[in-house]
Amino acid sequence: MDPAAMGPGFDPNVPNAARMYDYFLGGKDNFPADRAAAEQVLRHVPEIPLGIRENREFLVRAVRFLAGQGIRQFLDIGAGLPTQRNVHQVAAEHAPGARTVYVDNDPQVLAHARALLQDSPQVRVVEGDLRRPEEILTHPEVRSHLDLDRPVAVLLLAIVHFLPDSDEPRRLIKEIREALAPGSYVAISHVAVDERPERAPAVEQIYQGASAQFVARQSDEITPFFEGLDLVEPGVVNLHQWRPEHEVFDPRLLAVKNYFLCGVGRVS
Ligand SMILES: C[S@@+](CC[C@H](N)C(=O)[O-])C[C@H]1O[C@@H](n2cnc3c(N)ncnc32)[C@H](O)[C@@H]1O
Repeated sequence: MDPAAMGPGFDPNVPNAARMYDYFLGGKDNFPADRAAAEQVLRHVPEIPLGIRENREFLVRAVRFLAGQGIRQFLDIGAGLPTQRNVHQVAAEHAPGARTVYVDNDPQVLAHARALLQDSPQVRVVEGDLRRPEEILTHPEVRSHLDLDRPVAVLLLAIVHFLPDSDEPRRLIKEIREALAPGSYVAISHVAVDERPERAPAVEQIYQGASAQFVARQSDEITPFFEGLDLVEPGVVNLHQWRPEHEVFDPRLLAVKNYFLCGVGRVS
């Protein structure tokens, strides 16, 4: 990632949540401040990269499942930095012609995504904030690329844990759900801190200085986010338990209590 290409307002000294995530995934789109903050997180929660890898695998399985249900439109909110097997690429494998809109509120993510992802006529990259769903759903580029009168899959993967309770994430998700056509789907994944919750405040503290602030939640605080959706099997579970197609990458995860919950629900 070339700092000179990142545009005005770019400060490589502020740890960036998307670039920290990239570092956890073993990517190269990160700077020293991102790596330093990520390393601090790792000191408290060494299993984080395992969970994040499973999150990307969940993304692949969920998009494939949704394509199998006939979904041809994807709205990925909190898209993050492009990495391997992005939503539109998985969708193209299983639903040729599928359209994807990537949404993020981070200008650096948007710049990078526009450079790397918008090479396909099936893809758009749009600035938007999950805290203002109506602006996303009425955005001219979203409306011209997706037909929201027809079913769409909204992906909220590893983003809701950046919304504090004061932003009322339940209300925001409900607002999205209610705006979607019947037969649409919402997929959510959210870090869970059931295992050793006493580690959570230190991690929240590290993210206080970052571009997005992580909010630690336990399972019982996460499952209400799926309210109003007809959950597909197996419901809300740990990432590796959702329609698994391979063994868990690292058996150490099997010994961890709920670490990252996910689920996919249909809008009726
Ligand atoms: C950890 S990344 C997740 C990337 C991808 N969804 C995945 O699961 O692999 C979270 C992304 O959410 C974005 N984000 C955080 N808060 C947001 C908000 N309120 N609105 C839009 N994007 C947000 C961050 O900029 C970051 O790119």
